Amino acid sequence: MKIAVYSAQPYDRRFLDEARPNGVEAVYFSDRLELDTVPLAQGCTAVCVFVNDLLDAPVLEALHALGVRAVLLRCAGFNNVDLQAAGRLKLFVARVPAYAPEAVAEHALALVMTLNRRTHRAYARVREGNFALDGLLGMTLHGKTVGIVGAGQIGAAAARIFHGMGCKVLVSDPAPTPQLEGVAERASLDALLAQSDVVSLHCPLLDATRHMINTASLTRMKRGAMLVNTSRGGLIDTAAVIEALKSGQLGALAIDVYEQESTLFFQDHSSDIITDDVFQRLMTFPNVLVTGHQGFFTMEAMREIAAVTFANLACFLQGSPCANALLTPG
Ligand code: NAI
Repeated sequence: MKIAVYSAQPYDRRFLDEARPNGVEAVYFSDRLELDTVPLAQGCTAVCVFVNDLLDAPVLEALHALGVRAVLLRCAGFNNVDLQAAGRLKLFVARVPAYAPEAVAEHALALVMTLNRRTHRAYARVREGNFALDGLLGMTLHGKTVGIVGAGQIGAAAARIFHGMGCKVLVSDPAPTPQLEGVAERASLDALLAQSDVVSLHCPLLDATRHMINTASLTRMKRGAMLVNTSRGGLIDTAAVIEALKSGQLGALAIDVYEQESTLFFQDHSSDIITDDVFQRLMTFPNVLVTGHQGFFTMEAMREIAAVTFANLACFLQGSPCANALLTPG
């Protein structure tokens, strides 16, 4: 059987090919899955997709008409899949729920440490022979309050890291988080925003969480606090964040994800004119740090993603129960 791998980068190919079982053929496309690129999956029983592939109802219907019966997400989030439409079409949809939660949590820490101590600016300065410290002043994180919004796999890992650094950790999550006893205290979102020096987002993008960071919630944050988003860009109203940065209400912003990232991230645009003015405005702030959705990008995570993707495919082919399935046919 054959699978079509969309949004495939050389590193995807490397790790998927290492884990690919005999009898499964993979065809790799750098293209993002959208209506125009559906025909690439001709002759394939399954598609393998990533965070910025589009699986809305028209795309799923077109895939189904081609003979595709399974969608293999090589990521945890599934906000880009219309599950209702997939259910109607009786598609198998499975994800990789937790490939390396620590990898993303460690990246959130890297963003906080970089932005707080300005190591990105220090690196550039020292290479130019400039050893001046002016403009590099940070804060000692020990003793500060870190608010974790969404204490699932990644949020819990982040909570443990910040607790280990001597921070007071608050978590806001509608679900119980027993694994954090002695590490973090539960708080309402409003209390967390009001008390935290650093707010780190780790909840999924849902209708209920879209733009959870908006003008009103930014006003409730401690003045000058840092906001970190390694989850999904849509959690943040970027226009509101820009206004809060301009007024100084928001002290710093570190993001690994961006609401309109699908046309920018994972590609080299260094010779292009970037037409996203909101993104370009963000890049003008000295207190904004952006990485291109690399939180997951460790060797361990890539191996796990590949192994679990093919384990999910095996469940689909054998009709056996799949713990990672979001939808199973029938
Ligand atoms: P998870 O499912 O283990 O945890 C999510 C948690 O968010 C759950 O405990 C849930 O109860 C909570 N939650 C739901 N609604 C909430 C709300 N309104 N307020 C606060 N908490 C809420 O998911 P996991 O593995 O921790 O991943 C979290 C997110 O991280 C994913 O949804 C994905 O968007 C993102 N992610 C980013 C990566 C990157 O490379 N930057 C890689 C992997 C995931």
